[in-house]
Amino acid sequence: RTAELDSICLKAEVLPVMIIERLEDAVPVARALVEGGLSVLEVTLRTACALDAVARIRKALPGVSVGVGTVLTPAQYRQAEQAGADFVVTPGTTEALYRHGIESPVPMLPGVSSVSEVMTGWQYGYRRFKFFPAEVSGGVPALKAIGAPLAEAHFCPTGGISMDNAGDYLALDNVMCVGGSWLTPKALIDAEDWDGIRELARQAAERFHH
Ligand code: 3PG
Repeated sequence: RTAELDSICLKAEVLPVMIIERLEDAVPVARALVEGGLSVLEVTLRTACALDAVARIRKALPGVSVGVGTVLTPAQYRQAEQAGADFVVTPGTTEALYRHGIESPVPMLPGVSSVSEVMTGWQYGYRRFKFFPAEVSGGVPALKAIGAPLAEAHFCPTGGISMDNAGDYLALDNVMCVGGSWLTPKALIDAEDWDGIRELARQAAERFHH
């Protein structure tokens, strides 16, 4: 599981979080991100068309890794599996999700914000986590402190990340990538400004991808 997640997450230092309200925006947004240099994407389950969006992106852009985010229950996890998700991201964790994740063919990046949550996941074999909500949970110093007793755990901080602070997280030894919605602002999606999204992705890829 750890190796599977690494093969996905380590492909990209920056993981764009996509909130797709109109199904027809899914492929153009994803394509703009990929053309800008970001090829690991997360579509959140916060909108009704999210699963259809994942299926469309998978079909139109076969080389791209697409995760489903905001998964709250094993039932939603199963829907993500059926939609063809490459990975699943959760904002927090429950025992039921941890259990489902170790049996599922699709790996899970569980959301945590405390040492205890990491320790619970650890017992199930998890070593890769989303640190969420990163900025309000104490940001870089908190993640450094959480990581100290759990050196094998690596994180994808998300929540309040931007061009301004992404580099501070990526400089930590226990950070594998950062996630965020700053690459897909609602105003640009509503305006169908795919060039604008491509440019945001390009700036992030140029600055943070090695
Ligand atoms: C998520 O779903 O992971 C977060 O909402 C993304 O957080 P952000 O909008 O602060 O980037």
